Amino acid sequence: MTAHGAHGTARTGIVDLRSDTVTRPTPQMRRAMASAEVGDDGFGEDPTVRSLEEVYAARVGKDAALYVPSGTMANQVALRVLGEAGGAVVAGRTQHVVAYEFGAAARNAAVQFHTVPDDDGIVHPDDIRRAIDLAVYHQPAVCLVCVENTHMAAGGVPWTLEALGAMRAAAGALPVHMDGARLFNAAVATGVDPAAITAHATTVMSCLSKGLCAPVGSLLAGPADVIERGRLERKRLGGAMRQAGVIAAAGLVALTTMVDRLAEDHARARRLAAAVAERWPAAGVDPDRVQTNLVVFRPPEPLGVIDFLARSGVLADMVAPGAVRLVTHFDVDDEGIERTLVAIAKAP
Ligand SMILES: Cc1ncc(COP(=O)(O)O)c(C=O)c1O
Repeated sequence: MTAHGAHGTARTGIVDLRSDTVTRPTPQMRRAMASAEVGDDGFGEDPTVRSLEEVYAARVGKDAALYVPSGTMANQVALRVLGEAGGAVVAGRTQHVVAYEFGAAARNAAVQFHTVPDDDGIVHPDDIRRAIDLAVYHQPAVCLVCVENTHMAAGGVPWTLEALGAMRAAAGALPVHMDGARLFNAAVATGVDPAAITAHATTVMSCLSKGLCAPVGSLLAGPADVIERGRLERKRLGGAMRQAGVIAAAGLVALTTMVDRLAEDHARARRLAAAVAERWPAAGVDPDRVQTNLVVFRPPEPLGVIDFLARSGVLADMVAPGAVRLVTHFDVDDEGIERTLVAIAKAP
């Protein structure tokens, strides 16, 4: 057991490294949920939701924020407000909004993606400029640039401020949406204030239900007029909620108590990365480049590895053909890491 009682590997005997979405609300969150003040958020009268939106907007240096059920909905609302039907959205080809939302952008926002290489987690300025120039050659005009920070498929890579500044400059007057599902991992890993990171984006979304352990919810922040239009789009998508303060209360605990400890997850991920690099030197993992809570690697026998780990009580996921993913989070303690290191050393 960890100091947090119900949390840690000992509770289930399984080390679940599939995703940080498997985290469960902390006892403090459950207490906050039980005593949350609520109202009808449809009328803007839920004080806990309002407070969560205000706290997040302040943390990311934006005018206003909108509480939505999921990260996917936050991205979709951003696309509907900032994108244009028939317009091109520049984004990395393995970003969540492109590859893991089941075509939602086409369905919900009628945009088309102009995808660019993002193996290193970054959308490069030259690619943005080239995409914008294509309008001269009878191709769709770019209406929006989307970036992901940290970048999941690239192995949890956080953007540097320099790269963000260059991206912003290349985008010119275009709006930029940052999928910051794991923005706070990026902030903790780089030591940069979230508001400084998001200064380069028009809107930013963050998930409360991943490494921060809240049971439900994400937030979208941006200029007041953009968020006001976002409120309407959330309604259109069926995401308006009523006494949502019950879940927002857990989100407030997430934002105020669970951010700094992400450094522990990052340190544990680095230990896993070192073991992976030692066991499979050609699997594409440089432990020095693992800065947050994700390790993505390509062992010679990925399915055999997943199967062997599962039989050893360690759950891993695959995020692309051949790409195995290990994600550290609050429910994985040092004992779980030790067991995983032993299993990795023996894996096929
Ligand atoms: C980078 C990124 N963006 C967006 C999402 C979507 O969040 P949700 O699962 O809450 O819809 C995820 C979820 O895994 C993610 O990893």
